[in-house]
Amino acid sequence: MKAVILVGGLGTRLRPLTCNTPKPMIPLVNQPFIESMLIRLRDQGIDEVVLAVQYLADRFHTALGDGSRLNMKLHIIKEDEPRGTAGAVKNVEHLLDDTTFVFNGDVMTDLDLQAMLAYHREKQSKVTISLTPVDDPTQFGLVEMHKDNRVHRFLEKPRAEDITTNLINAGTYIIEPEVLRYVPPSQFYMFERGLFPVMLQTGDPMFGFPSRAYWTDIGKPQTYLDVHHDILIGKVRYNFRGQQIADRVWLEGDADIHSSAQVVGPVVIGRGVKIGRGARVIGPTVLGDGCQIGADAALEGVVLWDGNEIGEGATLRNCVLGRNNRIGAKTMITDGSIIGDDCSLGPENRLEHGIRIWPGTSLGERAISF
Ligand code: GDD
Ligand code: MG
Repeated sequence: MKAVILVGGLGTRLRPLTCNTPKPMIPLVNQPFIESMLIRLRDQGIDEVVLAVQYLADRFHTALGDGSRLNMKLHIIKEDEPRGTAGAVKNVEHLLDDTTFVFNGDVMTDLDLQAMLAYHREKQSKVTISLTPVDDPTQFGLVEMHKDNRVHRFLEKPRAEDITTNLINAGTYIIEPEVLRYVPPSQFYMFERGLFPVMLQTGDPMFGFPSRAYWTDIGKPQTYLDVHHDILIGKVRYNFRGQQIADRVWLEGDADIHSSAQVVGPVVIGRGVKIGRGARVIGPTVLGDGCQIGADAALEGVVLWDGNEIGEGATLRNCVLGRNNRIGAKTMITDGSIIGDDCSLGPENRLEHGIRIWPGTSLGERAISF
């Protein structure tokens, strides 16, 4: 079974985390997001995947190669210019021959793909769209259906007054490649504003597949943190790497944890991590490879990428740190704050209220209280 994953977007909403790292490559529980997605697809019977990329194609090549490391066949295809969601699939049409899955590349879900495929076949559908309920559909594609789940309206980013249902496009499709005849070649063209509305006019069968599977768009800082917390507390099916050394504490390699330090799961600890005397690491928390947590530091609900050094007595709560930051003693980072990569923050700063610090920033002692 083949699939196309759309990974063209710039990930601007996730800056500064995406300043140096394309959105699909940002780590989810210490593994590039796209890699965990590929593994999830592979484990559900998809063995050949086309990644439709727009920029930084080399980064994808370096990290994933031809897919053989993951036991699958991978094609990384770069668009000359942005083709839009449907245009991106049209662009790789020569690699497709049969019923194909298409995925938005920024969605975390544990949707049952085989159940969706069986449904697509039973309905003899040409396009099947997975649907999920959300509180506020205005940021998504609203999907209205008849009683038999045949789609009769698709409205991308609806205005508040157009909201008639809480079911939205969850960003997983099954398509019959023949529908790509409606997509103009070498042009920018979207499923959401182009192909789906067109198919409603031509009368080609298009069905919705509502599901209560776990679903989140990882494209915003708060949802990025939420997804980590949901995975760690077990709200979504997830295969943890590494070894469970205590109640919901997973160790991915060697670590040096001081006997007086406290680690309360769910916590994932990367390779080569050091946790100092009296430090407290409270879940749901992820520590990337090579992180060093100073004595008496207190961490709770945080995601640290690789190579962070946290000073003595620092407090980190509900925040994300990119790679290789140095955080001074007694500095406090809380409330959804996001630190980019390679920052050096001196002692006794206070970064709160979702502040975002750009990569390479240096701060002296007590320079910021926000
Ligand atoms: N290759 C390629 N080329 N990929 C693209 C392009 C393109 O020109 N444009 C967007 N993508 C990729 C993005 O990287 C992302 O993985 C996916 O297509 C969807 O684009 P977003 O920019 O993230 O769209 P959205 O989140 O505002 O809305 C989409 O997703 C919602 C669910 O999360 C729509 O499909 C909505 O209908 C849907 O509800
Ligand atoms: Mg999105």
